[in-house]
Amino acid sequence: MDIVKAGTYEEMSELAAELVEAELRERPQAVLGLATGSTPEGMYAALARDCESGKVSFAEASSYNLDEYCGIPASSPDSYHAFMEEHLFSKVNFQPGATHLPDGNGGEAACESYEKSIEQAGWVDLQVLGIGNNGHIGFNEPSDHFPVATHLVKLKQETIDANSRLFEDASLVPREAITMGIGTIMKARRILILANGDAKAEIVKRAFFGEVTPEVPASVLQLHRDVTVMLDARAAALIP
Ligand code: GLP
Repeated sequence: MDIVKAGTYEEMSELAAELVEAELRERPQAVLGLATGSTPEGMYAALARDCESGKVSFAEASSYNLDEYCGIPASSPDSYHAFMEEHLFSKVNFQPGATHLPDGNGGEAACESYEKSIEQAGWVDLQVLGIGNNGHIGFNEPSDHFPVATHLVKLKQETIDANSRLFEDASLVPREAITMGIGTIMKARRILILANGDAKAEIVKRAFFGEVTPEVPASVLQLHRDVTVMLDARAAALIP
């Protein structure tokens, strides 16, 4: 595990974008695993800027997002489809059809077909992750086991509360989601996990310096052979 401590959120975002760009230079046809949330927004802005200036190209790459809410249409402004369109897909040069998100309203069949599609793509080359306050990655919530493949989940109340800031009304936050499994994520060749801000300091310490346990889903990353944990100074405040 490589721990990279950046100073500010902006510095973390630039370093993260550089790592993604290095991957795309080395492997133009890379399969990128992408995350939503506030954490990667700065990285996406840097990637959009660098694509605009010609420093990086997504023309041969493809992407698979980690997760999507159930019960809202992909066209809703609150969906992860909309988030990705706004922050990245509308601003870089992926080919039409090269970007993928799970279908939040397709039930078990959507789980199976999403997992199969990632497998057919040869699994993810570089997976970008954020971390929830309770240690979730994608929407793999704390549990007594590590889910293997793409599956449906009931969100924990703390996740609903944390994500309610992005909705007009807390009652509108979906209670269920579809997410890649821990097994899907662990099959990625390389993983970049980002965390910033005071609120993530405690979970960063538990996830990367504590026991490997499904109660802290991100802790499983300690077992992966190529993980970069990229932090701003605030999120790194409690680690040795
Ligand atoms: C959401 C997403 C995760 C994300 C996490 C942290 O629940 N499903 O993929 O990493 O929240 O979000 P944020 O980056 O806004 O703190």
